[in-house]
Amino acid sequence: MTIPTIELNDGNAIPQLGFGVFQIPPPETAKAVEHALAAGYRHIDTAEMYGNERGVGEAIRSSGIARDEVFVTSKLNNNFHRPEDARAAFERTLDELGFDYVDLFLIHWPLPTRYDGDFVSTWQTLAEFKADGRARSIGVSNFQVAHLERLAAETETVPAVNQVEAHPFFHNDAVRAYGREHGIATEAWAPIAKGKVGDDDTIRAVADELGRTPAQVALRWHIQRGDIVFPKSVTPARIEENFALFDFELGDDQMERVGGLDRGEDGRTGPNPDVFDYIPA
Ligand SMILES: NC(=O)c1ccc[n+]([C@@H]2O[C@H](COP(=O)([O-])OP(=O)(O)OC[C@H]3O[C@@H](n4cnc5c(N)ncnc54)[C@H](OP(=O)(O)O)[C@@H]3O)[C@@H](O)[C@H]2O)c1
Repeated sequence: MTIPTIELNDGNAIPQLGFGVFQIPPPETAKAVEHALAAGYRHIDTAEMYGNERGVGEAIRSSGIARDEVFVTSKLNNNFHRPEDARAAFERTLDELGFDYVDLFLIHWPLPTRYDGDFVSTWQTLAEFKADGRARSIGVSNFQVAHLERLAAETETVPAVNQVEAHPFFHNDAVRAYGREHGIATEAWAPIAKGKVGDDDTIRAVADELGRTPAQVALRWHIQRGDIVFPKSVTPARIEENFALFDFELGDDQMERVGGLDRGEDGRTGPNPDVFDYIPA
Protein backbone atom coordinates (compact mmCIF):
# COMPACT_ATOMS: atom_id res chain seq x y z
CA MET A 1 0.00 0.00 0.00
CA THR A 2 1.58 3.29 -1.07
CA ILE A 3 0.77 6.20 1.22
CA PRO A 4 0.59 9.57 -0.54
CA THR A 5 2.84 12.31 0.76
CA ILE A 6 2.09 16.00 1.13
CA GLU A 7 4.84 18.47 0.31
CA LEU A 8 5.36 21.01 3.07
CA ASN A 9 6.25 24.67 2.52
CA ASP A 10 9.87 23.98 3.53
CA GLY A 11 10.31 21.31 0.85
CA ASN A 12 9.99 18.32 3.19
CA ALA A 13 7.39 15.61 2.59
CA ILE A 14 5.01 14.11 5.15
CA PRO A 15 3.01 10.88 4.74
CA GLN A 16 -0.67 11.83 4.61
CA LEU A 17 -1.59 8.94 6.90
CA GLY A 18 0.10 8.29 10.24
CA PHE A 19 -0.50 6.75 13.66
CA GLY A 20 -1.41 8.83 16.73
CA VAL A 21 -0.49 7.78 20.26
CA PHE A 22 -2.50 10.18 22.46
CA GLN A 23 -3.81 8.35 25.56
CA ILE A 24 -1.84 5.19 24.89
CA PRO A 25 -0.39 4.39 28.32
CA PRO A 26 3.42 4.60 28.25
CA PRO A 27 3.95 0.87 28.98
CA GLU A 28 1.69 -0.08 26.04
CA THR A 29 3.04 2.42 23.54
CA ALA A 30 5.95 0.45 22.10
CA LYS A 31 3.69 -2.52 21.40
CA ALA A 32 1.06 -0.40 19.62
CA VAL A 33 3.67 1.44 17.55
CA GLU A 34 5.38 -1.86 16.67
CA HIS A 35 2.06 -3.12 15.36
CA ALA A 36 1.49 0.07 13.41
CA LEU A 37 4.94 -0.11 11.80
CA ALA A 38 4.38 -3.76 10.91
CA ALA A 39 1.04 -2.79 9.33
CA GLY A 40 2.88 -0.26 7.15
CA TYR A 41 2.53 3.11 8.92
CA ARG A 42 5.63 5.30 8.53
CA HIS A 43 4.47 8.40 10.41
CA ILE A 44 3.99 8.58 14.19
CA ASP A 45 2.45 11.51 16.07
CA THR A 46 3.41 11.85 19.74
CA ALA A 47 3.90 14.69 22.24
CA GLU A 48 5.73 15.40 25.46
CA MET A 49 2.28 15.78 27.04
CA TYR A 50 1.42 12.14 26.22
CA GLY A 51 4.34 10.84 28.30
CA ASN A 52 5.07 8.13 25.73
CA GLU A 53 7.84 9.48 23.50
CA ARG A 54 10.20 6.83 24.89
CA GLY A 55 7.98 3.96 23.72
CA VAL A 56 7.73 5.51 20.25
CA GLY A 57 11.52 5.66 19.93
CA GLU A 58 11.93 2.12 21.25
CA ALA A 59 9.44 0.70 18.77
CA ILE A 60 11.05 2.44 15.81
CA ARG A 61 14.52 1.25 16.81
CA SER A 62 13.43 -2.33 17.42
CA SER A 63 11.51 -2.46 14.10
CA GLY A 64 14.74 -2.45 12.12
CA ILE A 65 13.21 0.21 9.84
CA ALA A 66 15.71 2.96 9.04
CA ARG A 67 15.17 6.13 11.06
CA ASP A 68 14.83 8.20 7.91
CA GLU A 69 11.95 6.04 6.70
CA VAL A 70 9.69 7.01 9.61
CA PHE A 71 8.29 10.51 9.99
CA VAL A 72 8.19 11.40 13.71
CA THR A 73 6.34 14.36 15.19
CA SER A 74 6.44 15.59 18.77
CA LYS A 75 5.15 18.71 20.50
CA LEU A 76 6.17 21.27 23.08
CA ASN A 77 4.18 20.95 26.30
CA ASN A 78 2.17 23.87 27.68
CA ASN A 79 4.43 24.48 30.67
CA PHE A 80 7.51 25.11 28.54
CA HIS A 81 6.61 28.08 26.34
CA ARG A 82 9.32 30.42 27.61
CA PRO A 83 12.32 30.23 25.27
CA GLU A 84 14.79 28.82 27.81
CA ASP A 85 12.22 26.22 28.93
CA ALA A 86 11.41 25.33 25.32
CA ARG A 87 15.09 24.71 24.54
CA ALA A 88 15.43 22.35 27.51
CA ALA A 89 12.12 20.62 26.74
CA PHE A 90 13.15 20.02 23.13
CA GLU A 91 16.37 18.38 24.28
CA ARG A 92 14.39 16.15 26.63
CA THR A 93 12.09 15.16 23.76
CA LEU A 94 15.10 14.10 21.68
CA ASP A 95 16.50 12.21 24.69
CA GLU A 96 13.21 10.42 25.35
CA LEU A 97 12.83 9.43 21.71
CA GLY A 98 16.52 8.50 21.54
CA PHE A 99 16.93 10.37 18.24
CA ASP A 100 19.11 13.27 17.21
CA TYR A 101 16.30 14.91 15.24
CA VAL A 102 12.54 14.92 14.86
CA ASP A 103 10.84 15.31 11.52
CA LEU A 104 8.33 17.80 12.89
CA PHE A 105 8.08 19.72 16.16
CA LEU A 106 4.97 21.68 17.09
CA ILE A 107 3.78 24.17 19.70
CA HIS A 108 1.03 21.99 21.17
CA TRP A 109 -1.40 24.79 22.14
CA PRO A 110 -1.24 28.58 21.62
CA LEU A 111 -2.40 29.40 25.19
CA PRO A 112 -3.34 32.98 24.24
CA THR A 113 -4.39 33.80 27.81
CA ARG A 114 -1.07 32.62 29.31
CA TYR A 115 2.49 33.95 29.11
CA ASP A 116 1.11 37.51 28.67
CA GLY A 117 -0.31 36.33 25.35
CA ASP A 118 3.17 35.67 23.97
CA PHE A 119 3.37 32.59 21.77
CA VAL A 120 5.53 34.53 19.29
CA SER A 121 8.80 34.15 21.21
CA THR A 122 7.98 30.44 21.59
CA TRP A 123 7.59 30.19 17.83
CA GLN A 124 10.89 32.00 17.27
CA THR A 125 12.53 29.46 19.57
CA LEU A 126 11.22 26.58 17.46
CA ALA A 127 12.80 28.33 14.46
CA GLU A 128 16.18 27.82 16.20
CA PHE A 129 15.58 24.04 16.25
CA LYS A 130 14.80 24.12 12.53
CA ALA A 131 17.90 26.23 11.83
CA ASP A 132 20.20 23.83 13.70
CA GLY A 133 18.65 20.81 11.94
CA ARG A 134 17.31 19.05 15.02
CA ALA A 135 13.74 19.67 13.82
CA ARG A 136 13.47 19.06 10.08
CA SER A 137 10.16 20.95 10.02
CA ILE A 138 8.35 23.07 12.58
CA GLY A 139 4.71 23.93 12.99
CA VAL A 140 1.90 24.72 15.36
CA SER A 141 -1.13 22.98 16.76
CA ASN A 142 -4.54 24.30 17.74
CA PHE A 143 -3.76 27.72 16.29
CA GLN A 144 -6.79 29.78 15.29
CA VAL A 145 -6.73 32.18 12.33
CA ALA A 146 -5.92 35.17 14.59
CA HIS A 147 -2.95 33.29 16.05
CA LEU A 148 -1.63 32.44 12.58
CA GLU A 149 -2.11 36.05 11.46
CA ARG A 150 -0.04 37.20 14.40
CA LEU A 151 2.82 34.84 13.53
CA ALA A 152 2.67 36.14 9.95
CA ALA A 153 2.79 39.76 11.11
CA GLU A 154 5.54 39.35 13.69
CA THR A 155 7.85 36.62 12.37
CA GLU A 156 9.52 35.52 9.15
CA THR A 157 8.72 31.81 9.53
CA VAL A 158 5.51 30.29 8.20
CA PRO A 159 4.49 27.11 10.08
CA ALA A 160 4.79 23.99 7.92
CA VAL A 161 1.62 22.55 9.47
CA ASN A 162 -1.21 23.46 11.80
CA GLN A 163 -2.56 20.42 13.66
CA VAL A 164 -6.18 21.09 14.65
CA GLU A 165 -9.27 19.17 15.61
CA ALA A 166 -11.25 18.25 12.48
CA HIS A 167 -13.68 15.47 11.57
CA PRO A 168 -17.09 15.10 9.93
CA PHE A 169 -18.87 16.73 12.90
CA PHE A 170 -16.40 19.65 13.20
CA HIS A 171 -14.95 20.80 9.89
CA ASN A 172 -12.86 23.71 11.20
CA ASP A 173 -12.96 25.12 7.67
CA ALA A 174 -11.94 28.73 8.40
CA VAL A 175 -8.65 27.54 9.88
CA ARG A 176 -8.16 25.06 7.02
CA ALA A 177 -8.85 27.78 4.43
CA TYR A 178 -6.29 30.11 6.01
CA GLY A 179 -3.76 27.28 5.87
CA ARG A 180 -4.51 26.56 2.22
CA GLU A 181 -4.09 30.23 1.29
CA HIS A 182 -0.80 30.55 3.15
CA GLY A 183 0.89 27.23 2.41
CA ILE A 184 0.27 25.69 5.85
CA ALA A 185 -0.73 22.02 5.65
CA THR A 186 -3.64 21.00 7.88
CA GLU A 187 -3.34 17.97 10.13
CA ALA A 188 -6.73 16.77 11.43
CA TRP A 189 -6.66 15.44 14.98
CA ALA A 190 -9.44 13.21 16.33
CA PRO A 191 -10.10 12.33 12.67
CA ILE A 192 -12.74 9.73 13.58
CA ALA A 193 -14.16 11.94 16.35
CA LYS A 194 -12.73 9.57 18.98
CA GLY A 195 -14.64 6.68 17.41
CA LYS A 196 -18.00 8.49 17.36
CA VAL A 197 -18.24 8.36 13.55
CA GLY A 198 -19.42 4.78 14.09
CA ASP A 199 -22.63 6.04 15.72
CA ASP A 200 -23.67 8.20 12.79
CA ASP A 201 -26.38 6.88 10.43
CA THR A 202 -25.14 8.77 7.36
CA ILE A 203 -21.57 7.54 7.77
CA ARG A 204 -22.83 4.03 8.44
CA ALA A 205 -24.95 4.14 5.27
CA VAL A 206 -21.98 5.28 3.16
CA ALA A 207 -19.85 2.56 4.77
CA ASP A 208 -22.45 -0.05 3.80
CA GLU A 209 -22.54 1.23 0.22
CA LEU A 210 -18.77 0.90 -0.06
CA GLY A 211 -18.39 -2.31 1.95
CA ARG A 212 -16.11 -0.44 4.38
CA THR A 213 -16.28 0.60 8.04
CA PRO A 214 -17.40 4.01 9.36
CA ALA A 215 -13.84 4.78 10.50
CA GLN A 216 -12.51 4.05 7.02
CA VAL A 217 -15.18 6.28 5.45
CA ALA A 218 -14.32 9.18 7.75
CA LEU A 219 -10.57 8.77 7.23
CA ARG A 220 -10.98 8.51 3.46
CA TRP A 221 -13.12 11.69 3.55
CA HIS A 222 -10.20 13.53 5.20
CA ILE A 223 -7.71 12.12 2.69
CA GLN A 224 -9.88 13.34 -0.20
CA ARG A 225 -10.11 16.78 1.45
CA GLY A 226 -6.32 16.85 1.36
CA ASP A 227 -5.67 16.80 5.10
CA ILE A 228 -3.12 14.73 7.03
CA VAL A 229 -4.53 12.20 9.54
CA PHE A 230 -3.15 9.90 12.25
CA PRO A 231 -5.91 7.87 13.89
CA LYS A 232 -5.09 6.34 17.26
CA SER A 233 -5.86 2.77 18.29
CA VAL A 234 -4.46 0.20 20.64
CA THR A 235 -6.51 -2.52 18.92
CA PRO A 236 -4.49 -4.46 16.33
CA ALA A 237 -7.44 -5.07 13.98
CA ARG A 238 -8.37 -1.37 14.05
CA ILE A 239 -4.74 -0.30 13.47
CA GLU A 240 -4.87 -2.36 10.27
CA GLU A 241 -8.39 -1.22 9.34
CA ASN A 242 -7.41 2.44 9.64
CA PHE A 243 -4.48 1.89 7.28
CA ALA A 244 -6.57 0.34 4.48
CA LEU A 245 -7.71 3.57 2.82
CA PHE A 246 -6.13 3.56 -0.59
CA ASP A 247 -8.07 0.95 -2.54
CA PHE A 248 -11.44 2.74 -2.53
CA GLU A 249 -12.82 6.26 -2.67
CA LEU A 250 -15.90 8.25 -1.81
CA GLY A 251 -17.87 9.54 -4.79
CA ASP A 252 -18.93 13.20 -4.98
CA ASP A 253 -22.34 12.41 -3.52
CA GLN A 254 -20.81 10.45 -0.62
CA MET A 255 -18.31 13.27 0.04
CA GLU A 256 -21.23 15.70 0.19
CA ARG A 257 -23.31 13.55 2.52
CA VAL A 258 -20.43 13.08 4.98
CA GLY A 259 -19.59 16.76 4.48
CA GLY A 260 -23.13 17.69 5.54
CA LEU A 261 -22.60 16.54 9.12
CA ASP A 262 -20.73 19.61 10.37
CA ARG A 263 -22.14 20.90 13.67
CA GLY A 264 -19.79 23.86 13.93
CA GLU A 265 -18.47 24.62 17.42
CA ASP A 266 -20.97 22.14 18.91
CA GLY A 267 -19.14 19.38 17.09
CA ARG A 268 -15.84 19.83 18.93
CA THR A 269 -14.73 16.92 21.10
CA GLY A 270 -11.89 18.94 22.65
CA PRO A 271 -11.38 22.40 24.09
CA ASN A 272 -11.60 25.69 22.19
CA PRO A 273 -8.02 26.93 21.70
CA ASP A 274 -9.06 30.56 22.32
CA VAL A 275 -9.77 29.78 25.96
CA PHE A 276 -7.84 26.57 26.68
CA ASP A 277 -5.25 27.44 29.31
CA TYR A 278 -4.21 24.11 30.86
CA ILE A 279 -0.69 24.06 32.24
CA PRO A 280 0.53 20.77 33.74
CA ALA A 281 1.55 20.98 37.40
N1 LIG B 1 -2.63 18.44 18.88
C1 LIG B 1 -3.56 18.12 19.73
O1 LIG B 1 -3.97 18.91 20.60
C2 LIG B 1 -4.16 16.75 19.67
C3 LIG B 1 -5.30 16.44 20.44
C4 LIG B 1 -5.83 15.14 20.33
C5 LIG B 1 -5.24 14.22 19.48
N2 LIG B 1 -4.11 14.55 18.78
C6 LIG B 1 -3.43 13.57 17.89
O2 LIG B 1 -4.38 13.00 17.01
C7 LIG B 1 -4.39 11.58 17.17
C8 LIG B 1 -5.77 11.03 16.89
O3 LIG B 1 -6.75 11.65 17.71
P1 LIG B 1 -7.45 10.94 18.96
O4 LIG B 1 -6.58 9.85 19.45
O5 LIG B 1 -7.81 11.98 19.93
O6 LIG B 1 -8.82 10.40 18.36
P2 LIG B 1 -9.26 9.45 17.15
O7 LIG B 1 -8.08 8.92 16.42
O8 LIG B 1 -10.31 10.19 16.38
O9 LIG B 1 -10.03 8.26 17.91
C9 LIG B 1 -9.38 7.34 18.74
C10 LIG B 1 -10.46 6.47 19.39
O10 LIG B 1 -11.18 5.76 18.38
C11 LIG B 1 -11.07 4.35 18.61
N3 LIG B 1 -10.86 3.73 17.29
C12 LIG B 1 -9.72 3.73 16.57
N4 LIG B 1 -9.91 3.10 15.40
C13 LIG B 1 -11.20 2.70 15.37
C14 LIG B 1 -11.97 2.00 14.42
N5 LIG B 1 -11.44 1.60 13.27
N6 LIG B 1 -13.27 1.76 14.72
C15 LIG B 1 -13.81 2.18 15.88
N7 LIG B 1 -13.12 2.85 16.83
C16 LIG B 1 -11.82 3.10 16.57
C17 LIG B 1 -9.89 4.16 19.53
O11 LIG B 1 -10.11 3.03 20.36
P3 LIG B 1 -8.98 1.91 20.68
O12 LIG B 1 -7.67 2.61 20.87
O13 LIG B 1 -9.51 1.31 21.95
O14 LIG B 1 -8.97 0.95 19.54
C18 LIG B 1 -9.93 5.45 20.34
O15 LIG B 1 -10.88 5.32 21.39
C19 LIG B 1 -3.91 11.41 18.63
O16 LIG B 1 -3.52 10.09 18.93
C20 LIG B 1 -2.80 12.42 18.67
O17 LIG B 1 -1.66 11.92 18.01
C21 LIG B 1 -3.58 15.80 18.86
